[in-house]
Amino acid sequence: MGTARRKIMDVLSGKAVSPPPVWLMRQAGRYLPEYRQVRASAKGFLDLCYTPDLATEVTLQPIRRFGFDAAILFSDILVIPDAMKRNVRFKEGEGPLLDPIDAEGIARLDMPDVTGHLAPVLETVGRLRQSLPEETTLLGFCGAPWTIATYMIAGHGTPDQAPARLFAAREPKAFARLLDLVAEASATYLIAQLDAGADAVQIFDSWAGVLGDEDFELYAARPVKRIIDSVRAARPGASIIAFAKGAGYNLKTYRQITGADAIGLDWTVPLDFAAELQKDGAVQGNLDPLKMVSGGDDLDRAVHRILDRLGHGPLIFNLGHGITPEASPANVERLIARIRGQGGQA
Ligand code: CP3
Repeated sequence: MGTARRKIMDVLSGKAVSPPPVWLMRQAGRYLPEYRQVRASAKGFLDLCYTPDLATEVTLQPIRRFGFDAAILFSDILVIPDAMKRNVRFKEGEGPLLDPIDAEGIARLDMPDVTGHLAPVLETVGRLRQSLPEETTLLGFCGAPWTIATYMIAGHGTPDQAPARLFAAREPKAFARLLDLVAEASATYLIAQLDAGADAVQIFDSWAGVLGDEDFELYAARPVKRIIDSVRAARPGASIIAFAKGAGYNLKTYRQITGADAIGLDWTVPLDFAAELQKDGAVQGNLDPLKMVSGGDDLDRAVHRILDRLGHGPLIFNLGHGITPEASPANVERLIARIRGQGGQA
């Protein structure tokens, strides 16, 4: 009895689990030699995402090596603009490139054929649920409309998302249409991932931190609420994590506005504030990803602080953002040993 419990699902329902379950954002990636090997055999990054054999393999790699409590589907948030025919490509060492969109381009955008275009990704989800250990949670994901819109408007990553912020101010109607379309496509995509075998889904708003409070509510929180409402209307009880990086004090109202089951916390969120947010439900985070590069006693201390402050409530242990290519797999092992060896006690 109970041997196949998925701990993360318990935490998402608001229970404290000790020791807390753990997974890492971007856990499949370039810090793993076995990832780099598969990556080199694929034609390009998007081909890796759209080839179920390869995407399944790289998703499973960190599970085999570290026994994380969750696997996250290997794909990218930019497959939604790719389905919208925005010519998404990933140039080696440059990050993503897209055809930048303007108000006329937005007026011409149609709802994409999400389940058709992303059929290979959905196939990967199904294969993963078949291959994963019973106790491992399978997470699907998508980008939040604001973060997706920043890449669609600029056509590439920028340090402060000035192009999207200016566009939102100058072309509010076109911008609202873009957010609506992306939200609707994303809801369809998440529902399809849940139907294909994902246990829960995460919405990544990596660029929420560049928005002032009014804009945060309008462009980040409300569109994410729209996705969550649509997903729950179709699949009642769907478990959803919302991660708004850099949102700071705006997180105070984020759970209430969006209805997310868990709130992702980046590493700049003070643990006292995190504990306050945890009174309303599960939180996920929030170790500085660079601790996976530096390691040592400093890593142990930082892990201990999080366990001490948040480990007694509903917590999914994670980094505060994705693991970096410079991280050392030995530090990931050390992190897991500290979490699991310590029993979540202070
Ligand atoms: O977490 C996981 O292991 C699942 C896979 C995953 C990837 N991207 C793989 C990836 C997930 C969940 C994402 C989300 C994603 N993609 C976000 C939100 C989370 C975040 O990190 O902020 C964003 C903003 C993107 C867009 C994106 N994709 C960028 C800016 C880049 C280039 C930067 C980089 O790290 O190279 C990517 C490429 C990308 N997505 C890689 C991986 C493993 C590296 C590409 C490669 O291997 O060649």
